[in-house]
Amino acid sequence: MKCVIPAAGLGTRFLPVTKAQPKEMLPVYDRPTIQYVIEEAIASGVDDILIVTGKGKRSIEDHFDRSFELEESLKESGKFDLLKTVEEISNLADIYYIRQKKQKGLGDAIYCAKKHIGDEPFAVMLGDIITKSDVPCTKQLIDLSQKHDSSVIAVEKVPNEKVERYGIIGGTEVSEDVYKVDTLVEKPKVNEAPSNLAIMGRYVLYPELFDHIENTELGVGGEIQLTDAMAKLDSMHANVFNGRSYDIGNKIDWLKTSIEFALEDNESKGILLDYIQEMMK
Ligand code: G1P
Repeated sequence: MKCVIPAAGLGTRFLPVTKAQPKEMLPVYDRPTIQYVIEEAIASGVDDILIVTGKGKRSIEDHFDRSFELEESLKESGKFDLLKTVEEISNLADIYYIRQKKQKGLGDAIYCAKKHIGDEPFAVMLGDIITKSDVPCTKQLIDLSQKHDSSVIAVEKVPNEKVERYGIIGGTEVSEDVYKVDTLVEKPKVNEAPSNLAIMGRYVLYPELFDHIENTELGVGGEIQLTDAMAKLDSMHANVFNGRSYDIGNKIDWLKTSIEFALEDNESKGILLDYIQEMMK
């Protein structure tokens, strides 16, 4: 399966950090966010990744490319562990790039992938959501999509105060944690939302979506919204996926995720806990 990672956004929620660097390259503990997403894609059996980039996103390409000078220098100084890490990153997958010329919204960014995708179902993975689960989230969606012969999106219950931040679905539960979707609304007011089930940045979509994007009017924020185009698909299921998601699209959740991931690393856990205790005093 092919996958599309939209990474063309301006990162306004992270300014000034993102003035001259892509938000997808913000580190979460020890690697850039987009690397976690690509690792999930590979673990899900995706072997062809298209990243939709834009102006100022060159460092994403550099990160996944080989760096001969760096490799030579690490070899010369005998830092073989680091050399291995650096080489592994550039061998992760076949990655293709296309530029979105103007930021017209998530739906438009996905539309840039039309030619590359062709006529098969494909995955979409947003660069500001990291997931953790035994079976990778995208793999769970691919399996469900094949089972139901339908597009499938990952959703998660969110508290009322967060509803306005997400695309929200409405539908009927057809089996445990699986919904047949009949309504999709992008960033609704909480009193107008069909549920508390928020779209969490992972999708398996049927290629008819591209025709629907062509016929989608500007939506919330004056942008072409992926959610509005998805609402026109014949069949859509949503899965409260088995695992956890981390939305690092805002400063405080990004910081919390970095701390949580650092605490999972035995090397840094003790040092960090001591530091936090010190700060608490
Ligand atoms: C996008 C989608 C939204 C989804 C969210 C997940 O919104 O449009 O449906 O719930 O990602 O993070 P954005 O965060 O780009 O505003």
